Amino acid sequence: MIDDLLILVGRFHPLIIHLPIGFIVLGILIEFNKKSLKWSNDALKFIFYWATITGIFSIISGFLQYQNGGYLWETVQNHFVAGIFTVFLSFSFYLKLIENSIFKTIPRKLFTIGNSIILIVTGHLGGNITHGEEHLIEPINNLAGFNNLQIETVKYYTDYKKRPLFSSVIQPIIDKKCVKCHNSKKSNGKLKMHNSTELMKGGRNGSIINFDTPEMSEMYIRIHLPREEKKHMPPKGGKQLSKEEINLISRWIKNGSSFEKSIEEFKLDENLISYFFSMEKPFYPMEDVSMPKIETLKKIRSKKILINPISKSSNFFSVNTLNYSEFSDIDLLIMSGIKENIVNLDLSNSKITDSLFFNLKYFTNLTVLKLNNTRIFGDNIDELSKLKSLKRIYLVNSKFDPQNIEKLTKFKNLEKVYLFQENRILKTPRKVSKDYDEIFDFGNYSLDNSEENMKS
Ligand code: HEC
Repeated sequence: MIDDLLILVGRFHPLIIHLPIGFIVLGILIEFNKKSLKWSNDALKFIFYWATITGIFSIISGFLQYQNGGYLWETVQNHFVAGIFTVFLSFSFYLKLIENSIFKTIPRKLFTIGNSIILIVTGHLGGNITHGEEHLIEPINNLAGFNNLQIETVKYYTDYKKRPLFSSVIQPIIDKKCVKCHNSKKSNGKLKMHNSTELMKGGRNGSIINFDTPEMSEMYIRIHLPREEKKHMPPKGGKQLSKEEINLISRWIKNGSSFEKSIEEFKLDENLISYFFSMEKPFYPMEDVSMPKIETLKKIRSKKILINPISKSSNFFSVNTLNYSEFSDIDLLIMSGIKENIVNLDLSNSKITDSLFFNLKYFTNLTVLKLNNTRIFGDNIDELSKLKSLKRIYLVNSKFDPQNIEKLTKFKNLEKVYLFQENRILKTPRKVSKDYDEIFDFGNYSLDNSEENMKS
């Protein structure tokens, strides 16, 4: 009975916290306008008195929610400390207002700034607990154009069926969702999961895999427990396993928890497997390249050349010479140390000539090449025909000679060449087959396929 009551109070935490928030926001607003409000000091005393009282209730209800809601202390501790600090700040401002001797000398501004900051911090930390840390970060990343959609485990392999299920799918899931708390430094429940040997050793209660009765495996049981259960893994508040991930780990355990057996041998449902492997070939090359030396990058950057990885975890780079308009053929040499790392190269508006291609052909992973507004005629462009990854070439407002369009038909993986010219009209030479109409884009869009062109 008492227990249920405490649980109920805990559940009201998300509601109760809006009381001190309201008081503090109102207090800050009044404080900002105190010159025009004669009654401000009396109001502020009242407001911060009640901000303190309701703040204390928020802390109590929050603590009850932590105790009964299955949260880990690590998950809530920062929010908890910030909450206490919020109340402390409200109370000390109240004491200052009633001219308590200790707080009298502290400038009022400090309280206002402190109250504003701590309110945001506490609120944000609390939001992270209920909604997960990605809650705010994700849409911000999306707005900024960072693409988080590529889930770590989704990889493209033509031979994926021959790969071991454990190392290619199961361990990456564990790395993503369990290793944070089960590794060599921090092994909750005395369990480490960062590699198969440690995983087999089990935790405080021995092996987490039961080979005789797989469904009785501790690992199996824990991921299937209802989320509210204290023993559910990953603990509530942390990043949860997806339905498909639970399904796959279950299959792996039920079918003998083998570390060697291939995906094929597990005879898994095609639908399930397709969730973890992208069947589409990725846009950029799949081969891994090593990270270039920092000095090399520094040297390139010192020329005001922009160079950035294409994604957070990639050693492939985008390079742009927009801020270095004097860039000429010879400048390409400073990039020779990273010629395998460059996948996007934008040399638009620079001073390059057709001799560039003799060096550029060694940039083996080049995928997108932009040569807009340059004096490129294309006489040597066939030098690039061996570049397996080259998919897009931009030659807008260049000097490109229509005679050289035919050379581009020798390129194996070209998807699009942009040849729009402002002051002249280029056309596909008659010798070139109609199949290339899709690839060569001259910008002379007609109405009926304008939608198609906008997409590309
Ligand atoms: C936020 C931290 C955290 C994450 C993430 C996490 N665990 Fe745990 N795990 C714990 C804590 C704490 C314990 C010890 C308390 C307990 O037994 O419930 C534990 C215990 C366990 C145990 C019991 C070990 C034993 O012998 O008693 C298993 C099995 C387990 N976790 C599996 C997993 C799996 C599988 C995942 C990923 C899907 C995972 N955990 C993710 C914190 C975590």
